[in-house]
Amino acid sequence: MKILKVTGGNALSGGIDIQGSKNAVLPVLAASLLTEEKVRIYHCPRISDVADMLSIMEYVGCKCAWHKDCLELQAACLNNDAICGALTRNLRASILFLGALLARKQEVRLAYPGGCKIGARPIDIHLDALARLGVALSDENGEICAKGKLHPGHVNLKFPSVGATENLLLAAALSEGTVHISDAAREPEIVALCEFLTLMGAEITGAGSREIEIHGKKRLHGTEYTIPADRIVAGTYALAALACGGNLQLHGPAAPDLAGQYPVIAKAGAHMFFRRNTWHVEASGHPKSVGLIQTGPFPAFPTDMQSPMLAAMLRSEGCTSIADTIYPERFGIVGELRKMGADVSRDGTVARICGTKQLHAAALCAGELRGAAGLVIAGLQSEGETVISGVSYIERGYEDICRDLQQVGADIRMEETGAVLSKA
Ligand code: UD1
Repeated sequence: MKILKVTGGNALSGGIDIQGSKNAVLPVLAASLLTEEKVRIYHCPRISDVADMLSIMEYVGCKCAWHKDCLELQAACLNNDAICGALTRNLRASILFLGALLARKQEVRLAYPGGCKIGARPIDIHLDALARLGVALSDENGEICAKGKLHPGHVNLKFPSVGATENLLLAAALSEGTVHISDAAREPEIVALCEFLTLMGAEITGAGSREIEIHGKKRLHGTEYTIPADRIVAGTYALAALACGGNLQLHGPAAPDLAGQYPVIAKAGAHMFFRRNTWHVEASGHPKSVGLIQTGPFPAFPTDMQSPMLAAMLRSEGCTSIADTIYPERFGIVGELRKMGADVSRDGTVARICGTKQLHAAALCAGELRGAAGLVIAGLQSEGETVISGVSYIERGYEDICRDLQQVGADIRMEETGAVLSKA
């Protein structure tokens, strides 16, 4: 079993090249199945969610090869359209194969997706939208069965779901006619998927707005694409600097992608500016409380930043509350932070944190990806050596959090222990 050992107290200074975005690359990988031709994806993060996605792609017949950070994919011939639970249970993004395989084969059988335990994660919006565009859907022995060619039409999403918007775009890209999506998600990852599909030959208007229109093509072709920098990884490191003090240069993220998080981190006391795709963050290590933060669909504060933010405020002046409107149960980190002496509590869907002067090291257990990142930020501020288990969660989305943070002066390392913990 892998554990992380973090000793707090160091300010963070220096530069970090921000890895490719997890949430952008996963739908782009699914979209690579829409052509028989070769696709090259650059700046692809080496994270376990990508590895799990590739296992599914290889299973259905796609050839996948790494050349440094470039992933070369070719789905010349797909020989499998049934994906079992053993392949989907680790990964929420496995639901994206529904749209992609439907588009390519007009038939797919897919076990329900798994992923981090952050509360109920229904897929009714995905299924309703596909059904409204003529896809026949059924549940057979706990698997989703979808059949048919998508019709042109107009769907109005009842909530701007990121995954449902992506699934519709994937399903529509090889359909004949026009699909119009109203109340579509506006996240930067939707824009990235639309850029990729456009490079493959699809015609799309409105990416990044509430109204997206996609004109599918009979065939899409191979292309090359560079995955944008991960706005959540960049935000995690900015919060580490806010909490510990220091001066970071985060290379890669685009300023508009940080809408939602940037103003909140600034309000908490970090001095920040952007120059040529580098996010400069300078902080004293004494954050100020920011009142109430509410997560929401882009451009609101991202749900993925909620736990890291909570951890960054552990030693702030005053109290801050965070309400997660996207995943109201996503507060698994609260109990772990209390083990360090943090003054943090949860009242229903709101977590409240009041700064304390000192935190002590503890043995902590991560239960999901962004919560794990929050525990690292907590460890970086506490006295003594914090030991974090559940490292596999971090590896789902952070390519090498030790490398990145060591580079800017943090005392953090990963170790193998003999102990084996059963996975929840
Ligand atoms: C969400 C986040 C995304 C983040 C990801 C992983 C939002 C809007 N989306 O994406 O930025 O990267 O988690 O942490 O912040 N829902 C339904 N039925 C559905 C689909 C979704 O009720 O069929 C609900 C969800 O329960 C949730 C909300 O809609 O409350 C957002 O869902 P969605 O955007 O689809 O979630 P993810 O794609 O997982």
